[in-house]
Amino acid sequence: MKTKIAKINSDIIEKSAIREFAKMITDGKLVAFPTETVYGLGANALDDSAVKSIFAVKNRPANNPLIAHVTSLEMANTIAKNIPFELDILFNAFWPGAFTVVLEKRECVPDSVTASGKTVAVRCPSHPIAHALIQSANVPIVAPSANLSGKPSPTCFEHVYEDLNGKISGIINGGTCDIGIESTVVIPTGKNKLRLLRPGAITPEMLQDKGFEIEIDKHILTPVTDNSVVASPGMLYRHYAPKAKMMLIRGNDKDVIEYINKQIANNSNCGVLCFDNESGCFANATVIEYGTPNNPLSLSHNLFSALRKFDLTDVEIIYARVIEPCGVGLGLYNRMLRAASFNVIAI
Ligand code: TXA
Ligand code: MG
Repeated sequence: MKTKIAKINSDIIEKSAIREFAKMITDGKLVAFPTETVYGLGANALDDSAVKSIFAVKNRPANNPLIAHVTSLEMANTIAKNIPFELDILFNAFWPGAFTVVLEKRECVPDSVTASGKTVAVRCPSHPIAHALIQSANVPIVAPSANLSGKPSPTCFEHVYEDLNGKISGIINGGTCDIGIESTVVIPTGKNKLRLLRPGAITPEMLQDKGFEIEIDKHILTPVTDNSVVASPGMLYRHYAPKAKMMLIRGNDKDVIEYINKQIANNSNCGVLCFDNESGCFANATVIEYGTPNNPLSLSHNLFSALRKFDLTDVEIIYARVIEPCGVGLGLYNRMLRAASFNVIAI
């Protein structure tokens, strides 16, 4: 298949270019587009066969449901019902943005979107291109991350191109995604109560500040065992994984750097994922700096792209510096745990 590619500037969006991609969506085809979190692989949420083709292209298990993207609460109401009024304060604060809520679904939503469940996950993205695409197609757009299942999520056009060129109808090149990790996903569990299913840039603290009690699902920081019931099927799968084995190293700066250097001395094919201005601490290794620890969004912005860069090298093992799992750091740590298959060394 020939994939139509266009570079669109989010500051001055050319309507005719967006219209061409929106028509692909309403024609039942797939289009990858940028959002403020990661690139999404979009299809008309109301078109069962288009939705099914997302699963085929990504090689995604059918029991992992999709997020429907909308431009307003009004559009959310066309696919979800009985939306609790008390959530309005959250929609006002965090929509448009990196915030997804699992709601009761309406009949019109195909089973392929929800993995045959009674709920649908809904998000209103803030990226101008995502917004313009949904607006122009005038339908909710389901979009998982635009990568092949299991690979790190795509945070720039080049990642999407590598995974999906020739397999889908269109890719909109809108540059690099700001946040770099996927949206926060929550499900209401009672009055002013939410369970956090996936951490992201909208942090538990930000939700608590709006008067909500937050329960952090235990699978955010622990692996799913064979007989445990999961609230969000996405937690089940090996995710975000680079080709090399990865180890997260926790502890104070001096001890961690010393520990990593000892490993490097024993293996000439080590990778190190470290903080800015630290590459000089590690000789004889492939070193990538990914941001500064006091700015967790700088780390989330660069994480997946750093993992993909390691895939282009011959490193056998990646030692990664991490920050505390709180605030945006919780989302970051959750992704890194999965990329490292829960291998953590605390020093
Ligand atoms: O930032 C994002 O959310 C990106 C961009 C493209 O918007 N999308 C994204 O989609 O990350 P995906 O498919 O990679 O992740 C969707 C997550 C999965 O963990 C899935 O299990 C969960 O949301 N999910 C979707 N529908 C659900 C539902 N009805 N109940 C519980 N979890 C659900
Ligand atoms: Mg994904």
